[in-house]
Amino acid sequence: MVRNVNKPTSRRVATSDDLEVSAYLEIAKEKGGQEPYSQQDLPGDRETVVIIDFGSQYSRLIARRVRESRVYCEILPYDVPWEQVAPLKPRGVILSGGPSSVYEPDAPLTPPWVFEKRMPVLGICYGMQAMAHQLGGKVVPGTKREYGHAVLHQNTADASLFRGLPPSIPVWMSHGDQIAEPPPGFKPLAYTDNSPIAVMGNDRGLIGIQFHPEVAHTPQGKAILQNFLYDICGCKGTWTAGNFVSEGIERIRKQVGEGKVICALSGGVDSAVTATLIHRAIGEQLTCIFVNNGLLRREEPERVLNTFQRNMKLNLSYVDATERFLGRLKGVTDPEEKRRIVGEEFIRLFEREATHLGKVDFLAQGTLYPDVIESRAPESKASAKIKTHHNVGGLPKQMQLPLLEPLRYLFKDEVREVGLTLGLPEEMVYRQPFPGPGLAIRIIGDVTPEKLEILRGADWVVMDEIKAANLYRQLWQSFAVLTDTRAVGVMGDFRTYGYVIAIRAVTSEDAMTADWARLPYEVLARISNRIVNEVPNVNRVAYDITSKPPGTIEWE
Ligand code: XMP
Repeated sequence: MVRNVNKPTSRRVATSDDLEVSAYLEIAKEKGGQEPYSQQDLPGDRETVVIIDFGSQYSRLIARRVRESRVYCEILPYDVPWEQVAPLKPRGVILSGGPSSVYEPDAPLTPPWVFEKRMPVLGICYGMQAMAHQLGGKVVPGTKREYGHAVLHQNTADASLFRGLPPSIPVWMSHGDQIAEPPPGFKPLAYTDNSPIAVMGNDRGLIGIQFHPEVAHTPQGKAILQNFLYDICGCKGTWTAGNFVSEGIERIRKQVGEGKVICALSGGVDSAVTATLIHRAIGEQLTCIFVNNGLLRREEPERVLNTFQRNMKLNLSYVDATERFLGRLKGVTDPEEKRRIVGEEFIRLFEREATHLGKVDFLAQGTLYPDVIESRAPESKASAKIKTHHNVGGLPKQMQLPLLEPLRYLFKDEVREVGLTLGLPEEMVYRQPFPGPGLAIRIIGDVTPEKLEILRGADWVVMDEIKAANLYRQLWQSFAVLTDTRAVGVMGDFRTYGYVIAIRAVTSEDAMTADWARLPYEVLARISNRIVNEVPNVNRVAYDITSKPPGTIEWE
């Protein structure tokens, strides 16, 4: 059981894929927009496993491991009623870990349908304890808290869960309570030094494991999960990007009918995949709107136009609003004010473009599964505001459209696979996140066309060298920042007085935390050398070695 572990602060991270549109969507939802994909839309033959969430910090990781095993799964709260689960036709259930003890007054319990429906169940950590407790076993506080690595020894050689594995394997534990007596009909299947019953199971496919198979510290964890999914639940692993695409196309056609759809393109992967999939399904009925706010990277607008307009022949409204955005940003130095202006202008332009299209029936958005999970978790809303990633204040409220969110149940890596399956260029599919307010929040101080030119030049060099060194995909983000500091330098025999460029490169899983990347000195040297030589008005380059926290990824 995971006790006393701080829950990660899950602040929703917006990127250019969803930034400004999301504010607009809040309004659309309030005004009667509906969630287009309910679970009822799932095809009946899709192999599905349900993960019951007891509040573990690892529930999402369990889901990712299951999906990586090509089995579709959904994370549902522990009090979900059967009526909501039934349309999924689950082949099995996984009970997550969680921070509670079964003896706490309000301890979450497994919903009764899990046992009544007689399907296979894998209880992990707290999930095992809840199962033992509810089915008549005995859970007690362990003599000592077990946290970290342990060696698991099997009692028998024939448990399906351990098929293909050696008799003893390293596992990762994190629990205080443990099983003293398994419920009637259950046998102890494995033990560790501190947990005499570390695994238990019965003949009906109900299994409890005290360790965490989903974390990397349990090296054979994925094999164990796959034994549960394939051998015990009988899944074949049919959840593939190709299947998702064909099912998705069917579903979009059914939902949209003869209707018209609009979609904002940002150049990011989520909106690109959303638009491409919908275009595959309904062709001309989709119109995309691409607003060039003048704050994009070098060649970015051309790339978007090339991919979608010239290659894919998608209906694309291109709005070059550079002057308008830069006009509104003139003299503005406050980062939050920059965000507010960019967000607000975007909505105005988007809405204006949309009205040119006549009647529109749906608004497409690249919402992903982590957003869906997070929006259900009440504790995720309680974090302090560090930056406004999207803005609701002062937006026009006239439009109300139902949402079309075909990626709503996908993780980012699945979205990328779908993008590749749809034939999107790798460059677009693996693009690093880019913030909605674009280069405006990478120029410290006021934003001018001259500064944008300088930053674009420096950014181009960073990208070029990072890609040449084959580091692009390993980094969460890598970019240049134009500081408002100037320094004295010497070039030839002359004094220079130029800007300082900062380089930022970070590794991260989800942008909630990030570490500065240990870029090789040679790469840093090439970047620095090229920037001071190729970019006018810059004579110094610094490397930002701050992690997040206490820094943030962007400088503003
Ligand atoms: P920070 O700077 O908060 O960034 O550590 C976390 C992630 O969010 C991106 N970011 C933004 N995305 N609008 C966006 O669409 C914004 O205003 C914004 N600010 C930061 C940032 O690039 C990083 O991926």
